[in-house]
Amino acid sequence: LHLKSQRPNNFPPGPPVLPLLGNILQLNLENPLKDFERLRKSYGDVYSIFIGRKPAVVINGMKAVKEAIVTKATDFAGRPQDMFINEVTQRKGVIMADYGSSWREHRRFHANLMSSTNQKVKPSLTYLSLQLYDTFPVIRHLPLPFQKAFKNFESLAIDLINEHKETRVPGEPRDFIDCYLDELEKVFLNMRRLRHLLIMNSLDLHGAGTDTTSNSLLTGFLYLMNYPHIQERCQQEIDRVLEGNCQASFEDRHKMPYTQAVIHEVQRVANTVPTALHCTTRDTELMGYSIPKGTLIIENLTSVLNEEGQWKFPHEFNPENFLNDQGEFVKPEAFMPFSAGPRVCLGEGLARMELFLMMVTLLRKFKFIWPEEAGEPDFTQVYGITMSPKPYCMKVQLRAPQ
Ligand code: HEM
Repeated sequence: LHLKSQRPNNFPPGPPVLPLLGNILQLNLENPLKDFERLRKSYGDVYSIFIGRKPAVVINGMKAVKEAIVTKATDFAGRPQDMFINEVTQRKGVIMADYGSSWREHRRFHANLMSSTNQKVKPSLTYLSLQLYDTFPVIRHLPLPFQKAFKNFESLAIDLINEHKETRVPGEPRDFIDCYLDELEKVFLNMRRLRHLLIMNSLDLHGAGTDTTSNSLLTGFLYLMNYPHIQERCQQEIDRVLEGNCQASFEDRHKMPYTQAVIHEVQRVANTVPTALHCTTRDTELMGYSIPKGTLIIENLTSVLNEEGQWKFPHEFNPENFLNDQGEFVKPEAFMPFSAGPRVCLGEGLARMELFLMMVTLLRKFKFIWPEEAGEPDFTQVYGITMSPKPYCMKVQLRAPQ
């Protein structure tokens, strides 16, 4: 095949591009993170790749990521609008909505109403198959499992809404869906439109808020079992601070610098959302390169969370990354698991509270032990929209009441 560069003038450099396929043969679509790292070594912090015929700019390292999403915030605040997930959400809601008034309105509404929920929405597709959908637009209309997935998404959401309608007491919301139903009763909306809005926004929050938090917790317990001295030090601090109190509160975190450091270190190594997809909203520049409006941007958060020079111990699990010489909790600027700028995770506050309260409550009551018969632990993560540890077994022992 004939190699041909399709890069516009002063566009970030990158590997040679194959017609139609672009660079997909040079990327492991099951987990492109290692390839992103390798390409960074050859082409620098800002480089470009082609996913099929579509150009994408990959941004690595804190300096470049910050310039894009914080300094030039609105230029980089768009979302791509031609991917599988856009079809599912019909470009509504928050996560995949493009930068603009509708996104702003929904984001504000969510921020006011957010409450935790425990339902899960599981798409019936593998992450690979999603990559195929996004890479080759031509297959989108074929009778493949994508079509079934669109229907599954909708019917799961409808079940959830009907269940809420049957059991809710108006004015006494139990969760996000109840709040939404209460709010939407105040304005005139026909039933079809109401259902549509609710489906899209509920899917957004369920999708964004369940796997992220649970995968972070799973990673946390995997490490705590295999670093028992760190687990014990947390338990000593928790016992001391909570002495006499039956429950932990989020405010207690200020008195628990070590436990705070451990939870942040868990989030750093868990790297739960490895990349965030954005899109430029106008012609712009980054680190001296020109990037046209509408370019797909891959913000490589992984490259910031383990960047040498930003962390005392970038490649090991070590809570010292978040402690100063006096043992006080400090948060380095490169701690960006929730991203930053206008598209920063909407659930950051909620997620931080959930992680703290669940970790502290569980560590206070139980000791988590790596079963001897399980052999050596495998810390390798499974790549996807969210990263998760491989399934593992744990032994749980009730601690003596403190
Ligand atoms: C977006 C991380 C939990 C709701 C994001 C983004 C990241 C992220 C990296 C993309 C930001 C960007 O595009 O630059 C995480 C992590 C979590 C977590 C690591 C848990 C450990 C939650 C929870 C909720 C939530 C609990 C809500 C229930 C959202 C929403 C967006 C988002 C709505 C889209 C914001 C927008 O596009 O304006 N999250 N998230 N997340 N997250 Fe989270």
